[in-house]
Amino acid sequence: MSALPVIPVEEDDRATPILSIPIPDAARPSLALWVENLSVSFDGFKALTDVTLTLEKGELRCLIGPNGAGKTTLMDCITGKTRPDSGAVFLESRLYDLTKLSEVRIAQLGIGRKFQRPTVFQGHSVYENCELALAGKKGVFRTLFARLSPAERTRIDEILELIGLKDQAKRQAGLLAHGQKQWLEIGMLLAQSPTVLLVDEPIAGMTHAETEKTAELLTSLAGKHTVVVVEHDMEFVRSIARKVTVLHQGKVLAEGPMSQVQKDPRVVEVYLGE
Ligand SMILES: Nc1ncnc2c1ncn2[C@@H]1O[C@H](COP(=O)(O)OP(=O)(O)OP(=O)(O)O)[C@@H](O)[C@H]1O
Ligand SMILES: [Mg+2]
Repeated sequence: MSALPVIPVEEDDRATPILSIPIPDAARPSLALWVENLSVSFDGFKALTDVTLTLEKGELRCLIGPNGAGKTTLMDCITGKTRPDSGAVFLESRLYDLTKLSEVRIAQLGIGRKFQRPTVFQGHSVYENCELALAGKKGVFRTLFARLSPAERTRIDEILELIGLKDQAKRQAGLLAHGQKQWLEIGMLLAQSPTVLLVDEPIAGMTHAETEKTAELLTSLAGKHTVVVVEHDMEFVRSIARKVTVLHQGKVLAEGPMSQVQKDPRVVEVYLGE
């Protein structure tokens, strides 16, 4: 077992227990996210049961499964929105448990989440939206038109280029097409330099062309970020997926390369056969 670097624990993390379970062999410096034996129930209904998942740095993972399988609940647990009954979540090799931290702290530590409905600031320009997202990262109050550093301007330009909205920079976000708003929101998450990016059903309501562009965007983010995508559209999943995890009734049913998982009779029966 290689020794993992222990990153200094910040003041507000001190109350959280440092790793209380044995480090599995899976824990290594290349690990981005490690979900360990997570279980959640809502009024006795088991939404997740003993879910264990490890994601490598820079990986693009698709999370698939029927309605109610627990995909969104898993994201809720990783981001601190839902407290699991048991289990733990570790980010990189920091040896404290995210399930004990606040949503804000988890976001600051490097987990960005994109919800299905875009939540851009409608009345502000595309550029200002990115600016606000950068300011948010600093965690200090800054007026909207405070001067950006050259590095920050460069970063925003890079992001606008990446999300394909460079020529829309001055446009009011509320006037963008649905797909463009979704990309802007991804851009705003990127402004906060997340290690892990969780994206729940990104192509819902998108046109075919927007879907293709989203596939390109998410694929281009892998490598620099660890990206987890939940999506029901199998054509889309096939177009971006390397490795997929299938959830069913709150448990991991199968995991592996898409080519292998889509042939798995259990997966076909509960999901793909529909
Ligand atoms: N806050 C909650 N209170 C009660 N039950 C919940 C809550 N959140 C989720 N559930 C239940 O947990 C189960 C898993 O839901 P979840 O939303 O995680 O599924 P999902 O895989 O994201 O499904 P979909 O593909 O339809 O989005 C469902 O049966 C759902 O009704
Ligand atoms: Mg869901």
